[in-house]
Amino acid sequence: MALRNILTEEDPSLYKKCRAVTEFNPRLHQLLDDMAETLEQADGVGLAAPQVGVLRRVVLVLETNVPEGEEPYVIELVNPEIIEATGEQHEAEGCLSVPGQYGIVSRPAVVTVRAQDRDGNFFEVTGEGLTARCFAHELDHLEGIVFTSKCERMLTEEELQEAQNREEAEE
Ligand code: NI
Repeated sequence: MALRNILTEEDPSLYKKCRAVTEFNPRLHQLLDDMAETLEQADGVGLAAPQVGVLRRVVLVLETNVPEGEEPYVIELVNPEIIEATGEQHEAEGCLSVPGQYGIVSRPAVVTVRAQDRDGNFFEVTGEGLTARCFAHELDHLEGIVFTSKCERMLTEEELQEAQNREEAEE
């Protein structure tokens, strides 16, 4: 496995529509493994292939809604499509490609995705809360959409500071 470089918002690769994966070969597996290592290293909850400069429909989402005592795990999604989205949430989100900036984005509360695994098998997965937001955010990346373009508003310096203080108090 190897770390990949995460592109930031000025890179044109982030604004292009990605192509479907048609070959479920060792090269895809290498990409998925590298993305997992990169995501873990960056301490993120999701990563899309265009963020590492690969314009293919591949994303990783960290499932954090796990029973107490269990570790969050990475869901690999190849050629994902949202097949059901219900409810609404308005929470702050960020992006590894837009470091230090957070904004309020309207997302569905519950999202079901149909995708293929690394061997091409189809499956469906449902996420709620942060996971639903993450599915929507990462799939947007495959269309060349970065969250800042659909933010209701960005968080202010003060709000950021407050969130940071809260986090530190919890640690
Ligand atoms: Ni992102």
